[in-house]
Amino acid sequence: PSEAEMAYAESLFALTPDFPEPGVLFRDISPMLADPKALRTTAEALIHPFSGQFDIIAGIEARGFVLAGVMAGVCGSGVLPVRKAGKLPDPAGYVEYALEYGTAAIEAPGVLKPGQRVLLVDDVLATGGTLAASRTLVQQLGAEVAGAAVVLELEGLGGREVAGEVHALFNA
Ligand code: PRP
Repeated sequence: PSEAEMAYAESLFALTPDFPEPGVLFRDISPMLADPKALRTTAEALIHPFSGQFDIIAGIEARGFVLAGVMAGVCGSGVLPVRKAGKLPDPAGYVEYALEYGTAAIEAPGVLKPGQRVLLVDDVLATGGTLAASRTLVQQLGAEVAGAAVVLELEGLGGREVAGEVHALFNA
């Protein structure tokens, strides 16, 4: 995507002060998802550095699902939903982790083939806990992490140190 296309996509972030708690500026990508051009740009930019290097895209609940689906449509791959714990009848992997606001756990269905290369995608990198746990989950499932991509990296939270190498489209 061009610089102008990226700038247009970035201009569509919705900013809400003091959510989910006072002092936090919440950034929502919903308007970006609702815009056909920005959505396509975002999907292409997330894929770009990993083109030809992955077999399936793992979308992290909840907005990661949407991004992974669109990216899979663009590049012709499949999708693995990384779910919050308790949603799947027969999860193949389970990882607990600390979140920016509390603790959580993730699970995934047993659909990966051994050695399959997985591209992880999420909307936001904050403390990095979710992405780090997703890496562990993919390894638990016997697959390989090909890379990780997020739309927005929140700087100053140390997410990158926790999550490992991440391709972030925008920083805030
Ligand atoms: C947000 C975001 C990432 C995660 C990042 O999800 O979508 O998944 O937090 O935080 P971290 O880097 O500190 O782990 P949230 O838990 O708010 O869930 P949602 O996407 O289902 O709303």
